[in-house]
Amino acid sequence: MLRTHTCGDLRKENNQEEVTLCGWVHRRRDHGGIIFIDLRDRYGLTQIVFDPEENGDVHHIAEGIRSEFVLKVTGKVRPRLEGMENPNMDTGAVEVLISDMEILNISKTPPFEIDQEKDVREDLRLEFRYLDLRKQRMMKNLILRTKMTNTIRHYFEENNFLDIETPIMVKGTPEGSREYLVPSRLFPGEFYVLPQSPQQLKQLLMISGVDKYFQVPRCFRDEDQRGDRQPEFTQAEIEMSFVEEDDILNVVEKCLIELTEKHAPEKRFPKKFPRMTWQDAMEKFGSDKPDLRFEMEFVDLTAEAKGCGFGIFEKSEHLYALPAAKKYGELTRKDIDDLTNLARTHGAGGLAWLRVGEESGPVAKNSNPEFLKTVREKTGAEDGDLIFFGAGEFIVATEPLGHVRLALGEKFGLRNPEEFAYAWITDFPMFEKNAEGHVTAMHHPFTRPHPDDLEKLKTDPLNCRAVAYDVVMNGVELGGGSLRIHESELQSQIFDILGITPEDAENRFGHLLKAFEYGAPPHGGLALGLDRLVMLFADEPNIREVIAFPKNQSAQDLMLGAPSKMPPAQIEELGLQIVEKEEEK
Ligand code: AMO
Repeated sequence: MLRTHTCGDLRKENNQEEVTLCGWVHRRRDHGGIIFIDLRDRYGLTQIVFDPEENGDVHHIAEGIRSEFVLKVTGKVRPRLEGMENPNMDTGAVEVLISDMEILNISKTPPFEIDQEKDVREDLRLEFRYLDLRKQRMMKNLILRTKMTNTIRHYFEENNFLDIETPIMVKGTPEGSREYLVPSRLFPGEFYVLPQSPQQLKQLLMISGVDKYFQVPRCFRDEDQRGDRQPEFTQAEIEMSFVEEDDILNVVEKCLIELTEKHAPEKRFPKKFPRMTWQDAMEKFGSDKPDLRFEMEFVDLTAEAKGCGFGIFEKSEHLYALPAAKKYGELTRKDIDDLTNLARTHGAGGLAWLRVGEESGPVAKNSNPEFLKTVREKTGAEDGDLIFFGAGEFIVATEPLGHVRLALGEKFGLRNPEEFAYAWITDFPMFEKNAEGHVTAMHHPFTRPHPDDLEKLKTDPLNCRAVAYDVVMNGVELGGGSLRIHESELQSQIFDILGITPEDAENRFGHLLKAFEYGAPPHGGLALGLDRLVMLFADEPNIREVIAFPKNQSAQDLMLGAPSKMPPAQIEELGLQIVEKEEEK
C-alpha cells in the first residue's frame, strides 16, 4: 500500500507516530506562512500542516498545491493546539506535520466546489459524476447502498433462497411499459429486449423446482422519467413455490424490519406492518400508496349525498369528505385556490369545500341544513374547520382528494421525518381501463385472480380482485408482487379478457404456456425497488442521489454521452435503417 492509514483513521492515540496518507486536497488555508490542508479520501478528512520552519523544501512545494490535487504525504501525528480541535471531524483532535510529500497527480479546477454543499445544477453534476461522487454525501449514499444490498443478500441466503442470475437479453413480451430493444446481427430484423423485470424467468425457475429464488437484478423500462423512476433500476426480488400470500408478506416484512433495525435504527416503525385492502386505502386516503405518518382520513358521504340539495353531490356516484381541522393551522382563500388547482391537475373538475359553522362557499350555500349537520357529525368537525370534498366516479372522487391530503400533511408539517410508516396494501383490482378504454392488467397478466372473484372474471372483470399486494412506506411504493397463475387454462382466460388472441398469446408467451403444461407448482413472489428503498433510508429526495451513474430526466447519460449515434456500417450490419422522424426534420 502507498499509505499507512486512511484519512479517517488518526486519533489522539496515534500521537507521535510517523504516518503516510494519500488523498485529495479538499480545502487549503494559508495562515501566516503555515499551510493547512484538509486531505480527503473515502474514509474522511485529516488536517495536514506544512510549516516553513520545520521543513522549508516541502513547504515550498506545498505552495503550488491546488484543490483536488492527489497527494502522498508523510509526517508525524501531533495533537492540535488547544481550542483548535474540531469535534465535528473524526480526526479532529489531531493533525499531521508533513516532512515529505509527493504530488501523485495534479487537477484542473473542478467545475464545481467539492468541499461545499452548495446547490449545483444537476446536469453539471451528472456530466462530472466522478467528481460529484467525491462529495461526502454521495459517498455516504454509496456506502449505505452497499450495506443494505449486503443485508438483503445475506437475509435471503440465510433463508435458503438461491441467488440465480437471469439473462439480460430476452424475448420481447410486452408486460406493461415500453421495452429497450437490442438488434440481432445474426438475425437481421430480429431483436432481443432488455428485461423490464425477470418476471417470467423467475416463474420458469419455480417450474424447475428452484422453490425459493432471489436476485438483485437490473431492470429496464422505457417510460417517462420522474423523481422515483429511472430507465434502468435495480430490484431486490423473490419468488417462492407452495406458498400463500401470507408467507411472502412475512418473509419480505422480516427483511424490511432487519434492514431498518440495522441501517436506520433511529427511525420509528411498526414491528408488525398494518395491512389494508386497496379499496380501503383508496376510500380512506385516496391513494394506493398512502402516507400513514399522519391520519386525516376521508369520510364516506356517498349515502348522505342523495337529496342533499347540492346538485353536483347528488349526481355523483361517490362523495368523500376530507376534514382539515383548524387545530393544524389556518388555510387562506389562496391556499384553497392552490389546493383546487392541485385537485384539478389530478383529474378533479374542482374542489368543493365547506367551512363548518359559516355560510360561505358553494356547499354551505346550496346544501340543506340536515346534510350540513350530518357532515359535521360524521366528520367530527368543529366550527371553523375546513372540509374538502371529492365527488364523482370512484377514482375521480378519491385520488385528487388524496393529493389534497398529502399537500395538507406537508403544509401543516404532519409528516414526521423520523418515522418509517410501512404498510401492506392488498387485494388490488385485477384489471383497469387504460386511457383508450381497453382492459389492461393492473399489475401484470400473470397475476392470480382472487379465489372469491373467479366468477366475476366472466361477468364483471373490472370488479375482480387479484391476489396482488404492494408494500408502501411514507407515500412511496417500495415493492409489489402477487400470487401467480400456474394453470395454462386460467392464463389463457386472462389473456382473453385482456384482448390477447390465442395466436398472439402463443407468439408472445408460448414458452410460459408450454411450461405450465409440465407440472407448474403454485407460486408467487415480490420485487422491491432497491433504489427507492435506499433513497428513503438515505433521506434523499430522488433515486438519482443513490445511484452511482444515473440517467437524467431525459434518460441520457450525460457523462458517457449516451444515447449516441453509431457508425453507418454498424447500423447496416444489423440490417437497420434510420428514418428521420417528421418532427425532427
Ligand atoms: P413492479 O413493476 O411493481 O413489479 O416493480 C417492483 C418495484 O420496482 C420499483 N420500480 C422502479 N424503480 C425505479 N425506477 C423505475 N422505473 C421503477 N419501476 C418499478 C418499484 C416497484 O414497486 N415483476 C414484478 C414483481 C413481482 O410481481 O414479483 C414487478 O416488476 O419500487
